[in-house]
Parts: sequence; structure tokens; C-alpha cells
Amino acid sequence: MTSTKRWLLAGFALLYICGAVGAKRNFKCPSGCSCSKETIICVGTSHVPRTVPNEINSLSMVNGSIAEITEGMFSLMPSLQLLLLNANSLTTIKDDAFSGLPHLEYLFIEGNKIETITKNSFRGLRDLTHLSLANNKMRFLPRDLFFDLDSLLELDLRGNSFQCTCENKWLMTWLKNTNATVSDVFCAGPSDMKGKRLSDLPIPPGECISTDFVRHQSIPIQSMSADIFSFKEDIYVAMAAPNSNSCVVMEWDHIEMNFRKFDNITGKSVVGCKSVLIDNHVLIIVTQLFGGSHIYKFDDQQNKFTKFQTIEVFNISKPNDIEVFQMDGDWYFVIVDSSKAGLSTLYKWTDQPDRNETGFYSYQFLHEWFRDTDAEYVEVDGKSYLILASRSQPPVIYLWNKSTLKFILHGEIPSVDDVVAVKAFREEDELYLALTCYIGDSKVLKWTNKQFTEVQTLPSRGAMILQPFSFSDRHYLALGSDYSFTQIYLWDAETKTFHKFKDIYVQSPRSFTVVTTDRRNFIFSSSFKGKSMVFEHIIVDLSL
Ligand SMILES: *[C@@H]1O[C@H](CO)[C@@H](O)[C@H](O)[C@H]1NC(C)=O
Ligand SMILES: *[C@@H]1O[C@H](CO)[C@@H](O)[C@H](O)[C@H]1NC(C)=O
Ligand SMILES: *[C@@H]1O[C@H](CO)[C@@H](O)[C@H](O)[C@H]1NC(C)=O
Ligand SMILES: *[C@@H]1O[C@H](CO)[C@@H](O)[C@H](O)[C@H]1NC(C)=O
Ligand SMILES: *[C@@H]1O[C@H](CO)[C@@H](O)[C@H](O)[C@H]1NC(C)=O
Ligand SMILES: *[C@@H]1O[C@H](CO)[C@@H](O)[C@H](O)[C@H]1NC(C)=O
Repeated sequence: MTSTKRWLLAGFALLYICGAVGAKRNFKCPSGCSCSKETIICVGTSHVPRTVPNEINSLSMVNGSIAEITEGMFSLMPSLQLLLLNANSLTTIKDDAFSGLPHLEYLFIEGNKIETITKNSFRGLRDLTHLSLANNKMRFLPRDLFFDLDSLLELDLRGNSFQCTCENKWLMTWLKNTNATVSDVFCAGPSDMKGKRLSDLPIPPGECISTDFVRHQSIPIQSMSADIFSFKEDIYVAMAAPNSNSCVVMEWDHIEMNFRKFDNITGKSVVGCKSVLIDNHVLIIVTQLFGGSHIYKFDDQQNKFTKFQTIEVFNISKPNDIEVFQMDGDWYFVIVDSSKAGLSTLYKWTDQPDRNETGFYSYQFLHEWFRDTDAEYVEVDGKSYLILASRSQPPVIYLWNKSTLKFILHGEIPSVDDVVAVKAFREEDELYLALTCYIGDSKVLKWTNKQFTEVQTLPSRGAMILQPFSFSDRHYLALGSDYSFTQIYLWDAETKTFHKFKDIYVQSPRSFTVVTTDRRNFIFSSSFKGKSMVFEHIIVDLSL
């Protein structure tokens, strides 16, 4: 052994002895404190004594300026049974503030300025019997804050500012059920709850449940429209993608939980792409600005769509929307024409193989010269109507005449101009229409006394779509915007109107369509200038 090493060892030994004895024998009661064998009481100091004898089981620091409890601050006093920090300047208590105190039974932190306590602040205090956080500034407590306190007998939370809202729902429930004695705690807000006892509050189930829309998938395809259809237990979306000259068909992947490529029907300036399922066959109507419009049929053997029929489009020059519907057992669709010279045209399914006629054939021409934008088929009071919106006049209503088997002009929806989209929906058995105006006011109308009357206006800033949709008992309206966020409105059954609910961002949205699969709910939005987006509709528990 070298002399250096010997010296070092001797030094360590000396240090060790001095340290142990120092804590025991040479303990100097800090100034401002009075000490006895087991107790230290400090008044007006701001520092926790660093070295204390092992026997100390009670530490009080009152009327000081302690502003923070750092992690493990008291771990040098493992025998503490009582810790009192009344009348200091604490504003927060953080995770594991009292770690290393397995025997702590009494903890008093009264008359500070505590606003926040984090979830694991009292972790491990299994022997704690008395806890007081009275006279602080707490508004909310994190869920399961008292989870580890197996021995708790008395809790004092008086003199705080508890808010009786969803965030504290767990606390109200906990107070109702705990076996500890808790002095009465009252709500400080919101105003309608003020002065009520927390443990008395009824908490109706579902009260603190809300929903949200979260981004789930973005699809780098710009599309004018997206049509969702299901076939043989699978879900598909057909998107009209004019910039890539195709109708892109994607399939839902039940394992990856997103849409993946399936097929690509190529064309020229595809502006419409709409499915119809007839006799267990999937047909897709593809409208184009150039090169006519066609119907494709799914070919099981080739596992792709192949051309089935070219439809007559003599009187169509600028197809804008395709509306498919079934009436008295027959299939129809309308191609809405948005040019001045074109004619919105009704097509009917015909199946007469002996005459070589199986497909959709033009059946009726609707009104001329109106630059139509959208068609919506509705059935009400046993009658069938077709509502046609136009850039150049108020929307018109066609009524199906059961003897002539043609739509006849029936009336118009007055005082709404320049509508770019029309969608029907039902709320509590009443029929409503959502009419989209690009700039100005979009409108919600209700069918009463055989006509549509306005019930609500929604300010539109570059809106091409106002789409109603529902997930179980929640009814929404999505108002798109080319300049800002899409506004999601939520139906309020009491006022029978929509209220602003959430903003979501989609660049130049053109359609919103519900996708429900694998017990999850999604909304698919096509985007004319950016990525098409899939949002998931999720349930949020506000009481967490
Ligand atoms: C607490 O401290 C303040 C000043 O810091 C003093 O005026 C007051 O008397 C003290 N109270 C007690 C109970 O020691
Ligand atoms: C309260 O005590 C009863 C009886 O000992 C026990 O069954 C119950 O689980 C306790 N409740 C809580 C919340 O600890
Ligand atoms: C569809 O196919 C065409 C031709 O092959 C291609 O130009 C286009 O990019 C494809 N579109 C998509 C979205 O895959
Ligand atoms: C529709 O087109 C056909 C063929 O071009 C034409 O004969 C007919 O007059 C047009 N119908 C209307 C109402 O313009
Ligand atoms: C139907 O079309 C096929 C093939 O084009 C043709 O051979 C047949 O004669 C046609 N039948 C009728 C009834 O027109
Ligand atoms: C249907 O058309 C027939 C013949 O033009 C007409 O007599 C009848 O009034 C129409 N029905 C309705 C409900 O408009």
C-alpha cells in the first residue's frame, strides 16, 4: 500500500465518523427554530434544516417564506411522522414532494397560496392519517390524487376555490364515497353552483362526456368529391381527382385502420365519381369535363373497375354533381349541369337484355339556362321531390308526378340566392335543408306547412359545402371554408338549432362523408387544393 492510498483511506474513515457524530452530537438547532429531542419548530425561516438527528419525528415550519418543495426535500428525515408547513408561500406541490417519508402520519400545509398540485404529489404516503390543505387557492385537484392514502382518517380542504365543473367530477364522487372524515367543502364557482356542498352534487351520467375530431389520415390526393360505399363487408371511397385525371378508388384496410390504394379509373378532367349498387354489382358513374361521361363496373375476376357503358351527354356541358336515388323501386341519377348552355339531366336504370339495353339512359331534361350546382332528392309526406340549386336563381323544387312519371316544377325556395350545395337531413322526424352560400350566409331551413322556412343562418367565408352528419345521438353540421377553418356545429335539441362546436382544418374542403367501420367513426373530407383528410370522431371524458 502506498502512503498516498493510506492517507486517503484514513481521511475517508475520519470523514465518516465526523459525519455520523456531527449529525447526532453536534446538531445545532438552526436560528429561528426551537429544538427538542424529537421536535423542531421553526418560525419565520425559509430554509429546511439540512442535517437533523434521526430521532426527529416532528418538523414544523410556520410563518416562513418557503416557496417551493423540491423533490425529496425531506428525505433526510425518514422518521418524520408530522410535517407542518402552515403559513408559508407555497404555490405548487409537485410529484414525489414527500418521498422518503414512509412513516408520515400528519401533513399540514395550511394557509399557503397553493394553486396546483400534481397527480403524484402524495405518492407513497401509505401511513398518512391526517391531511390538511385548508386555506389555499386550489380550484381543481388531479384525478386520483389521494389514491395511495390507504390510512387517511381526516382530510381538510376548506377555504379553497373549488370549481364544481367536470374537471372536479372525480373529486365530488370521491368525497361521496370516502371513509375519511372530510369537513364540508363548498363550490366557489361556477356562479350557478356557488355555495353548494361538493359532496352533495348530483353527477348525472354522461354529463361530462364530449366528443372531438382528431386527424387520423391524410391522403395526398386533391379531390372534388368523395363517395363512400360498402360492398361485401368492405368499405371503399371513390374520389374525383381532376388534377390527376382519375377517379381514385381506395379501400379501407381493417388492420392498418386506414384507406389504401385500390384502383384508379383514368379519364380526362374527372369531376364526378359516384357509386351505385344495383343487383349486387358496383357501378361507378364517372363524369368528366372532356371526353363524355361513363359508367364503370366492378369486375370480380380482374379485381378492378372496367368500362360498362358510355352515357348520353348531348345536353350536358359542365357536370357539377351527381345525385343518385331510388324511387318506387327504380334507380335514377341526376347529373347537374353548371354551364349556361347545359341541361341538368335525369337518367333511369333500364334492364332489357332482349333489346340490348342494360344501363342508365337519359330520361328527362330539367330546366335550362340556370347554371345548376347541386341536386338533392327528398321524400316527405309520401311525395318525392327533387331540389335543384343554381347560381343564377333561388333553388327550385320539382315534384314527382306519379301519373306522368316525370318531375314537374313545383315551386321555389324564395329569398336564398346563389346556392352552391343543398343537403337534406332529419332531426326528430322533421325535415331540414342545409343550403350553402359561398360568401354571405349559409342557411338551415325546416319543412313546415308544405314549405321550407328559415331557422338559422351561418356566416360563410368561401364555403362550398355545408354537410349534416350524425354519429349515434350527436348531430353535426360541417361548414367548409376556402379561406379559414371548417366549422363544426353541434345540434342542440333544446333550442333546435346548431351551435358552434369545433374547428378543423382542411384546405378547400369539397365534401364531408361519414365512415363507420371497426366500431370507430370517421369523417372523410375531400380537399380540392390539398390533402384529403380523415378525422376520427372520438369520445372525450372531460372529467379526466
Ligand atoms: C409572521 O411573520 C410576520 C412578518 O413576516 C409577522 O408580522 C407576524 O407577527 C408573524 N406571525 C407569527 C404568528 O409569528
Ligand atoms: C369504506 O369502508 C368499508 C368497510 O370497511 C369498505 O368496504 C369500503 O371499501 C371502504 N371504502 C373506501 C372508499 O375505502
Ligand atoms: C392514376 O393513373 C394515372 C395514369 O396511370 C396517373 O397519371 C395518376 O397519377 C394516377 N392517379 C393516382 C391518384 O394514383
Ligand atoms: C338534347 O340533345 C339532343 C341531341 O343533341 C337534342 O336533339 C335535343 O334537342 C336536346 N334537348 C334539349 C332540351 O335541348
Ligand atoms: C345485341 O348486341 C349484340 C352485340 O352487339 C348483337 O349481336 C345483337 O344482335 C344485339 N341484339 C339486339 C336485339 O339488338
Ligand atoms: C300529374 O300530371 C297530370 C297530367 O298532367 C295532372 O293532371 C296532375 O294534376 C299532376 N299531378 C300533380 C300532383 O301535380
